[in-house]
Amino acid sequence: MTQRIAWLNEKGGSGKSTSALNLSANLASRFGQRVLLLDVDHQANITAVLTRGKTPKKTLTDVFLNDVPAEQAIFKTHIRNLDLLPADSALADVNVAMADTGSRLGLGRELRLKRALAPVEGNYDFVVVDTGPQRTLLNVNVLNYVDEVFVPIDPGYWSIMGVQHLEKLVEQIRLHMEHATLRIGGVLLTKVQKTNVAKEVEAQVREYFGERVFRSTIPLNVKVEEAHSRGMSVLDYSPESAGAIAYLDFTKEVLFHGNDTEHRVG
Ligand SMILES: Nc1ncnc2c1ncn2[C@@H]1O[C@H](COP(=O)(O)OP(=O)(O)OP(=O)(O)O)[C@@H](O)[C@H]1O
Ligand SMILES: [Mg+2]
Repeated sequence: MTQRIAWLNEKGGSGKSTSALNLSANLASRFGQRVLLLDVDHQANITAVLTRGKTPKKTLTDVFLNDVPAEQAIFKTHIRNLDLLPADSALADVNVAMADTGSRLGLGRELRLKRALAPVEGNYDFVVVDTGPQRTLLNVNVLNYVDEVFVPIDPGYWSIMGVQHLEKLVEQIRLHMEHATLRIGGVLLTKVQKTNVAKEVEAQVREYFGERVFRSTIPLNVKVEEAHSRGMSVLDYSPESAGAIAYLDFTKEVLFHGNDTEHRVG
């Protein structure tokens, strides 16, 4: 069965795109999982990395605005087993169009992504979704589509506040959109530094979220960022680096242990 995971945190720069990209690339190329990565952010950061700067022919914008079937916008990336449904800056217009309830896109606007992906998702073991930092109708579409949300937290003093807002949003979707099984499946500490603030915030996050916090944490490591500019995962770019080892450990945790010791494969 396909597992659908969205990376979400309304705080900008918390590591959503980096974590979505490295988890997807590792699952696909190291563990033979068939992965579809969805770029649902008009910043299109992941698209830029995986196309190495080339403009994709069709994007998620075409799927929403022009009724292009998702399979026509999906392409195989240079990473084995990893497909991408790319974004472009015009995805911001989709939000505007959906906000007008009288427009063609206003109808059934919260469930458009789910409907668009239904014909293709069976081809994949995992669908991993990257989202933008704003609260948008696109993100409501993402929450209606996925089974679980992974929250990256870059441990600073204000990090916890943002995550509490996110919990309320997930609760609202559960209640009002009849998606009772949606849950925050995991919390990942990212860009972790060896500072007292980071240690204190990590302790707070572990106390608040308990077992939902992944054991693995991702250190702040320059190789992670360099890998983006080479169009690669950090594991392919610099396999011995602290960032690569951390994202590999994290991927194993997702695949083999979940957050509840259940084996996620099969
Ligand atoms: N472990 C890391 N070590 C070093 N740099 C990192 C690490 N993780 C992320 N970064 C860098 O931090 C910046 C923010 O990360 P990223 O883009 O993944 O966050 P985001 O949550 O997707 O941001 P946005 O909210 O804008 O979409 C990027 O420049 C990224 O390359
Ligand atoms: Mg991002």
